[in-house]
Amino acid sequence: MDVLSMIMALFFMLLAVWSQSQLAALQQPKSEAAPALEILYSKRVVTRGAVIAAAVHVSDGRVQSIVPMRNAPKGPKVTDYGRLAISPGLVDVHVHLNEPGREEWEGFETGTKAAATGGVTTVVDMPLNSYPTICDAATFDGKIAASKGKLHVDVAFWGGLVPQNAHNETVLDELIERGVVGLKTFMSPSGIGDFEQSFKPDLEAALKTLAKHQVPLMAHAELPSDVDLDPNADPRKYATYLATRPRKWEQDAIAQLVEIASTTEGAPIHIAHVSDADSLEMIAEAGRQGKRITSETCTHYLTFAAEEIPDGSTLHKCAPPIREAENRERLWEGIKNGTLTFVSSDHSPAPPEDKLVEEGDFLRAWGGISSLQFSLPATWTQALARGLTLADVAEIWSARPAAVVGLGAKGTISAGKDADFVVWDPEAEITVGEDWKVEHKHKLTPYHGMKMKGKIVATYLRGEKIYSSSDERGKYSHNHRAAGPYGRPLLRK
Ligand SMILES: *[C@@H]1O[C@H](CO)[C@@H](O)[C@H](O)[C@H]1NC(C)=O
Ligand SMILES: *[C@@H]1O[C@H](CO)[C@@H](O)[C@H](O)[C@H]1NC(C)=O
Ligand SMILES: [Zn+2]
Repeated sequence: MDVLSMIMALFFMLLAVWSQSQLAALQQPKSEAAPALEILYSKRVVTRGAVIAAAVHVSDGRVQSIVPMRNAPKGPKVTDYGRLAISPGLVDVHVHLNEPGREEWEGFETGTKAAATGGVTTVVDMPLNSYPTICDAATFDGKIAASKGKLHVDVAFWGGLVPQNAHNETVLDELIERGVVGLKTFMSPSGIGDFEQSFKPDLEAALKTLAKHQVPLMAHAELPSDVDLDPNADPRKYATYLATRPRKWEQDAIAQLVEIASTTEGAPIHIAHVSDADSLEMIAEAGRQGKRITSETCTHYLTFAAEEIPDGSTLHKCAPPIREAENRERLWEGIKNGTLTFVSSDHSPAPPEDKLVEEGDFLRAWGGISSLQFSLPATWTQALARGLTLADVAEIWSARPAAVVGLGAKGTISAGKDADFVVWDPEAEITVGEDWKVEHKHKLTPYHGMKMKGKIVATYLRGEKIYSSSDERGKYSHNHRAAGPYGRPLLRK
C-alpha cells in the first residue's frame, strides 16, 4: 500500500466515523422529547385576577408555564409583544352561525373568520336559525358535517329543547351524548316556525334528563302576557317596539326559572341575554339561596340606550329589547358585583332585506344584532369608562363563560390550558367599518362607524397564530394538513 492509499483509507475511515456520529445525532430526540417550544413575551399578560410581565411558554398547543419576565429562559422561537396585552381568547357562548340551511344569513366560514378577527377563539353555536334546527342526534351530525373545513376558531354547540323532544328521554340522551354543551330553549315564540316555545312542564321534564348528564339548560327568558299598546304608535319610533316587550315578561320568566331551579344535584340553569336590570335582585336572591343559576347579558345592552336609538334604526332591534340608559348602568352594577355571570354577543345576523332598513319599521323588521367581531373593543370601551380592568374583562369574556358551559381547556391563560390568546392594544382607537373591516357576511350593524378602544393585533388558537392584523386586509392561517383553517368542533366529553 503506498502512502497515498494509506491517507485515502484513513480519510474514508474518519469520514465513516464522522457520518455515523452525525446520523446518531439526527436520530437522537432533540432534547428529552420536549415538543417545540414557543415563547410569547409581554409586559401585560392577563392571567386570572392579575396582569403581569411574563413569558408564556407554549408547546403542543397548550400553555406549559408562565414565567416571570426576569426568569424567562431562552427558547428557539420567541415573540416579544412589548406592551401589547396578551389576554385569553374570548369564549362567546351565544352565537347564531345559521349553517346549515341559512348560509345566506351568516355561515361557519364568515362567522368564525369574524370571530378570529375579534380575538374570539371559541364560539358556542345556537341550535336555531339554522335549518334544520338541532333537536336530535341526526340533525346534530348534519351540523358537524356542514362545519367541516370551514372553522377558523373552535366551535361548540347547544342542542335545542322544544316541546317535541322535551319529554323523550332517549332523544335528549342521544343529543347530549353527541357532545353538546347543554340545551337551549325559548320561553317565548322564537320567531322561527320550526323551533317552538317551551312551557313549564316541558322544562321540568327536560331538567330531569339534563340533571342526569349535569349539563345546563339555557333559557331565552321572556314569558309573554297581554300588553296594552297604542294602535296609532309610530312603528319607526324605537319606543313603540320597546313597549311591546315589557320588563314584566323577563321578570315572569326569570321567576319561573328560579322556581324550578335546584339547589343541589339538579341541572344548572343559565339565563340568556338579561336585559332588564330590575330582574337582577331576583337573580341575586336565587344566588344567596344557593340555586344553580347563572346569567349573561350582551354587549349591546351594555353599550346602547333606548333613548339614543334613532328613529327607523332597525339594526338596534333585538329581543329582549335594549332598555334605558339608567337600566344599562344597573346592568354594569350587576356585572361588577357578580350577579350577572358574564357577557355574550348573541350575534344574530340576517340579510339586509329582512332588517327593512329603508322602511325603518321596528315592528316588522327581523330582530337580531350583528356583533360577533366587536365584542372585545366594544365591551372594553364601556368597561374602562366604569373602572373595570383588563383582568375583569378576561373574567367576564373568557374564564366564566368557559366554566359555565364546561369547556375546561378554555378561558384562562394558565398551565395545561389551550394556548388561545388575543394579542391587542387596549389603548389604540379603531373605527368599526372604517379602519377595521367587518368580516361578518353582512356588514350591517349598529356598531358601524363607532370609535372604540382596543385594536386586535393577533389571535392564537391552540398555539397557532390564526389571525394577524399586520397587513391591511388581515391574514388568516391555513392548516395544510386539514386543508382548511385551524378551528375544530368542540365536543363535550
Ligand atoms: C322517542 O323518540 C323516538 C324517535 O323519534 C321514538 O322512536 C320513541 O318511540 C320516542 N319515545 C317515546 C317514549 O315517545
Ligand atoms: C348587584 O347590583 C344589582 C344592580 O344594582 C342589584 O340589584 C343587586 O342586588 C346587587 N347584588 C349584590 C350582591 O350586591
Ligand atoms: Zn340568540
